[in-house]
Amino acid sequence: MKAKIGILTLSDRASKGIYEDLSGAAIRQILDEWIVSEREYFYEVIADDFKIIKERLIYMSDKLGCDLILTTGGTGPAERDVTPEATEAVCKKMMPGFGELMRAASLKFVPTAILSRQTAGIRAHALIVNLPGQPKAIRECLEPIFPAMPYCIDLIGGAFIETDESKMKVFRPKKK
Ligand code: MTE
Repeated sequence: MKAKIGILTLSDRASKGIYEDLSGAAIRQILDEWIVSEREYFYEVIADDFKIIKERLIYMSDKLGCDLILTTGGTGPAERDVTPEATEAVCKKMMPGFGELMRAASLKFVPTAILSRQTAGIRAHALIVNLPGQPKAIRECLEPIFPAMPYCIDLIGGAFIETDESKMKVFRPKKK
């Protein structure tokens, strides 16, 4: 089964074409570096709008049938930053460990890591994970959490994701 991966960039300015979305491109580039199994990407850049974010997350999980949805941006304290709220509003189950680990790991790089309210959760067979908007934050956040992501997607009935182990080693507990 081909994995369907949604990339949703949240940025008022990138959605108006004021600047290029480097973070969405970085997500795809890093996943292409690690994943060897078949995959298909769905990509959108939208404004920091609670209702629209919710609607696109529901579309990507329920209509497109995504197994993984990575958002970037809108996780901070500013008034327009509402990605975690929209994620929580559409998810059936929250997975707080992802945000906890990303913040802890990010502190090695920036003291402002704690300003991100990034979270993760499950809707249908999609794992939805928030990443900060900074292009360099993408790898800093994905590297620590990715080893647990394919098994999480297995557990919710999503596609089987395989990686090049020399680049990204994932963990699946052995079957009893
Ligand atoms: N995490 C990592 N790994 N690297 C970063 O550069 N930037 C921080 C934080 N998390 C950052 C990071 C900053 S400065 C902010 S304000 C918050 O993420 C929220 O960013 P966002 O609103 O673009 O999502």
